[in-house]
Amino acid sequence: MSYEYVVLKEISKKFAGGVKALDKVTIEIRTGEVLALLGENGAGKSTLVKILYGVYSADEGTIYINEKRVDISSPAEAIRHGIVMVSQHPQLIDTLSVAENLALGLKAFNAFTSIKKVSKFISEKSGKFGVKIDPWEKVWRLTYTQKQLVEMIRAMLLNARVVLLDEALTYLPLEEKRKFYKFIKEFTAKGGSAVIITHKIPEALEAADRIAILRRGRLVGIIEGGSARIDDVRKMMFGESAAEITYGKLQASQPGEEAVIETQDLWITGDFGENAVRGVSLRVREGEVVGIAGIVGNGQRELTQALAGLRKVSRGRILIGGRDVTNRGVRVVREMGVGYIPDSPLAFGISIDNSMTENIAALYQRKSMLVNWSEVREVASSLIEAYKIMIPDAGSLIKVLSGGNIMKVIVSKEINYCRRALIAHNPTRALDEVSAIMVRKSIKERAISDGVAVLLVSEDLDEIYQVSDSIYVMNSGKLYGPFPPDEAERSNVEHLMVI
Ligand SMILES: Nc1ncnc2c1ncn2[C@@H]1O[C@H](COP(=O)(O)OP(=O)(O)O)[C@@H](O)[C@H]1O
Ligand SMILES: [Mg+2]
Repeated sequence: MSYEYVVLKEISKKFAGGVKALDKVTIEIRTGEVLALLGENGAGKSTLVKILYGVYSADEGTIYINEKRVDISSPAEAIRHGIVMVSQHPQLIDTLSVAENLALGLKAFNAFTSIKKVSKFISEKSGKFGVKIDPWEKVWRLTYTQKQLVEMIRAMLLNARVVLLDEALTYLPLEEKRKFYKFIKEFTAKGGSAVIITHKIPEALEAADRIAILRRGRLVGIIEGGSARIDDVRKMMFGESAAEITYGKLQASQPGEEAVIETQDLWITGDFGENAVRGVSLRVREGEVVGIAGIVGNGQRELTQALAGLRKVSRGRILIGGRDVTNRGVRVVREMGVGYIPDSPLAFGISIDNSMTENIAALYQRKSMLVNWSEVREVASSLIEAYKIMIPDAGSLIKVLSGGNIMKVIVSKEINYCRRALIAHNPTRALDEVSAIMVRKSIKERAISDGVAVLLVSEDLDEIYQVSDSIYVMNSGKLYGPFPPDEAERSNVEHLMVI
C-alpha cells in the first residue's frame, strides 16, 4: 500500500522579517503510513503542516489531493479534504461537556450530529485507548491526556484521512505517548495516514514508517523508519552541531553549606481541592542542582508554582535564603533573585504579544520603575547569540517565533535573571537535543560559577541524571529521597515513580 493521498510539491514560504521558513519542499503522504517530520527548532515543520491545514498559504508550490490540484485556504477546507490537525494546545471549550464540544464542531461539516451517537463514539474509542472519558464531563475537568485524546477522537468523527500531530504528544509522559502511537497505528492500519512532528528521534524511529528530515527550511532526506540509525538521523538534523549532543553526566557542583531553597512540611491544595503536595521537606544548597523526578501530575506543578509565589500553601513554610516567603506572592520571591521556568510556559512564562526586549524588561521592572532599555537590549542580543535563538531581532513579537524558539527565550531570560535560585520545571521539553544540552550546560554553569541553587523538576529521567547533584522522586504528592545520583539505581527511581 503506497498510494499517495496528499502530495506537497516544491512548497516555499517566506515570512515578513526575511526568514525563509520553507524552500522548495516536496513530500508525499502515503495512505496507511505514519510519517514523522523531524528537524531542529525552527526547521520549518510547523509551517509545512500549517500550509497543508490552510493556516498559512504557500508563496510557491502546489498541493495535490487524490491527484487533483487543490487550494486549501482555511482549516475548514482542509477538514473537507479529510485533513485534520491536532496541536499542542487543545482547542476545546472548557465550560462545555466533551460530547457538546465535539457535536458542535461536527455541525459545521454536516457529519453526524446526534449527540447520542457522538457520546457513544467517545466512550467506545476512549475505552479502546485505555483512558476512560465520560462524554458528559465538562472539559475543564479533563487531564491533558484526556483532552488530547478527545482531539484525536474529534479527528476521527470528522472522517479524517490524514491526521497532523504537531508536537501534540510532546507534553505527555512516555507511557501515554505509547498508547497514542498504538491508537494511531490502528488508524493507519485502516487506511488513514498520520504525520507526527516530534523532536525525539527514538520516538520517531519507534512510531514512524518513514521519517522526513527538514533543516533550515529544506528537505534533507526521507528515510525508512526501520532502517534508520539514530546517529545518521542526528547528523541530518543538526549537521556539525550533532557532535555537541551528549547524555553523559555533567561536571558535579561543590555545594556550599547554606540552604538557599528550603521547604518545611509543605502542604498544597490542587485545583480540585485535593492534597496535591503532602508534607514535602527539601533543601537546595548554594551551588547545588537538586533534581525531582516523577511522572506528570504528582504534585510537581503545584510545588513549583508555590515556590515561585504563584500558589498558596495551606501548611508548612518556604524559605529562600533563610527568609520566610510563605504565601508572600510572586513579586517578593522574584525580587530575591529567583528565576522561574514554569511548566506551562505560555501561560506563565512569557507574553507572546510583546517583544523579547519587553519580556526581559518586565523582569527587571519589578525592582524599580525605570527600565534601562539599552541594557535590556544588550541582554537580549547576548541571549539571542548565546542560545542561537532564531528571531528576526530582539524587538520582534514573541508570537511569530516557532515553539522551540519561544521556549529558548523563556529559558534564557530566566537563567540570566536568577541570582540566588532557579526553579526549572521541564526546561528543555520543547527543545531539540542540541538546544537541550546547551540549556542544561548553562544551568549547571550558573550553579558552579555563581552558586545559584537550582531545583530542577523534570519528566525526563535522562536529564535528571545528567544534571543533578542529588535526586528526589515525587509521587502522589510525596517526596522520596534525597539520593546521590551514583547510588540512585535507575530501576529503583523508576519504581518509585510508578508505585
Ligand atoms: N508567523 C510567523 N512570522 C514570522 N516568522 C515565522 C512565523 N512562523 C514561523 N516563523 C519562522 O519560520 C521558521 C520556521 O518555523 P517553524 O515552522 O515554526 O519551525 P519548527 O516547527 O520546525 O520548529 C522559524 O525561523 C520561525 O521563527
Ligand atoms: Mg513547530
